[in-house]
Amino acid sequence: MCRVETTPAVDAAYGYEDLDDGAARVASRHYWDSEADAYQLEHGEFLGDADFVWSPEGLREADARLLGDVAGRTVLEVGCGAAQCSRWLTSQGARPIAFDMSSGQLRQARIKEGRTGVVVPLVQADATRLPFADASVDLACSAFGAVPFVAEPAAVMREVARVLRPGGRWVFSTTHPFVWCLPDEPDEAGMRIIHSYFDRRSYTEREADGTPSYVETHRTIGDRVRDVVAAGLELLDIVEPEWPEGETRVWGQWGPVRGEYVPSTSIFVTRRPAG
Ligand SMILES: C[S@@+](CC[C@H](N)C(=O)[O-])C[C@H]1O[C@@H](n2cnc3c(N)ncnc32)[C@H](O)[C@@H]1O
Repeated sequence: MCRVETTPAVDAAYGYEDLDDGAARVASRHYWDSEADAYQLEHGEFLGDADFVWSPEGLREADARLLGDVAGRTVLEVGCGAAQCSRWLTSQGARPIAFDMSSGQLRQARIKEGRTGVVVPLVQADATRLPFADASVDLACSAFGAVPFVAEPAAVMREVARVLRPGGRWVFSTTHPFVWCLPDEPDEAGMRIIHSYFDRRSYTEREADGTPSYVETHRTIGDRVRDVVAAGLELLDIVEPEWPEGETRVWGQWGPVRGEYVPSTSIFVTRRPAG
């Protein structure tokens, strides 16, 4: 659920760097503002206008029910993109609030709002500094929003834990940490270990003038568990969706060939302890 192309822009320099949160924010805003239209054109049909798809494997919240009962609940969607998940949540009787850092993605959300007639409160905000009060939402969710792109995912965990009411779930999908080692290819070419799983430097692309233009960050499975626990959350499950039998679709490095052997998505099901 990440970049539109699977290879960097022709003249972009790319590599692995220790990137701070500010630089990651600049890169993500640049990328998602400039690529929002192309991203929705390429993936909008698969994502639907009012559907909750957790990952390119096509796992839907309608089937997985990882958030539990959402009816009547206030649900915060983190890094919502065009807010497709929030529109589905509305259809289930929830009261979603969707936020994203990118004005390009929020503009796309408005376009889909016009198409569906489903209006969701949209907020422009950064997932590492949430403009919401303590214990103000019942549930929080994210389908590949913000988490794979921030240099300090621990800050996202802390912020979401802060705004969640006790007992509320925070469920987020992100790239499976294991695929950090592999080429960004969906077929046999993507089934070679070419990079260290333990290299936490960010994958970064830069414009000719040095401006960071795209970033993806990495945490190992252990890092993610520690970030969740350090934020005071309980870890209930890590779901690794399998590639559906007979599905031939490809999305970047996600596809049937590699998908038969390795997971490419991880979904963390967490909860702020009750009481
Ligand atoms: C892959 S899209 C996921 C959105 C949607 N669920 C989807 O599947 O299209 C990633 C989204 O995360 C947003 N994002 C990246 N960094 C963010 C941050 N620090 N705070 C809030 N949103 C962020 C991007 O603007 C983008 O809309």
